[in-house]
Amino acid sequence: MNEHVKAELIDGILVLTLQRPEKKNALTGAMYDALSDNLERAETDSAIKVVLFQGEGDSFTAGNDLADFAAQANGRNSEDSPAFRFIGNLGKMTKPLIAAVQGNAVGVGTTMLLHCDLVYLADNARLITPFVNLALVPEAASSWLLPTRIGHVRAYQMFALGEPMDAATAVACGLANAVLPPAEVRQKAMAAAVTLTKRPAGSLSATKKLMREQEKIALKMSEESELFRQRLTSPEAAEAFAAFAERRPPDFTKLSN
Ligand code: COA
Repeated sequence: MNEHVKAELIDGILVLTLQRPEKKNALTGAMYDALSDNLERAETDSAIKVVLFQGEGDSFTAGNDLADFAAQANGRNSEDSPAFRFIGNLGKMTKPLIAAVQGNAVGVGTTMLLHCDLVYLADNARLITPFVNLALVPEAASSWLLPTRIGHVRAYQMFALGEPMDAATAVACGLANAVLPPAEVRQKAMAAAVTLTKRPAGSLSATKKLMREQEKIALKMSEESELFRQRLTSPEAAEAFAAFAERRPPDFTKLSN
């Protein structure tokens, strides 16, 4: 368990709350591991029918902790890193995943939504995938799932220009189900979760399996993770992480890739 990830089982719904609001719920290795432990438990425990993700504070999550990225770039990064374990677990889930999202959902905060079955956004939600700004590449099979869902040029705009997508646009292009006032998002997500607990679990998981190409997702994740690890140790990524820590814009113009 982890102080920054609260897990509560409420009438068959495993509610996973990110609670590191002072850092915009940026995800550390320990937080990824806590999430993975819970997802693995959810898949095997018949008392858990649905998993619901939410975040405390004004952001859903600022994505991977950038200090952790910088540390990994200095040699502490491996195939079985907590982030890749979490992403892998998302791709394998057969039970329903629901997300209630307010404020910024950055990096994996957005790409994890591509693995959720129902997504509810507050009207202040902003989906941001700044992988290229960080000199990285997309992860969580998003290099395939995002263009498939919203089209190449819109996905490229998010990945390469790093432009945020607002909640209404996200619903319009199929990334989310509804936009709600911030105070109502959790309620709406919870109501959907309660409904799903009453559906036949076997039928739900068979339907989800039919709707998702799990093998292709796993293959894409492994292709991405290979490139992602290479990019993490690039001089470009070092500049991007240093710039974030120093609160200045990065300057990639003088670097080799
Ligand atoms: N990793 C580590 N710390 C992070 C973080 C991250 N991904 N995102 C935010 N934080 C920390 C900030 O360093 C700051 O800490 P401090 O108060 O000790 O200085 C605190 O969270 C608040 O962040 P701040 O930038 O002041 O909030 P904001 O409301 O102005 O902006 C974001 C919010 C999410 C837009 C902005 O923090 C951001 O862009 N974060 C980086 C997101 C990112 O690139 N993630 C990786 C994706 S692959």
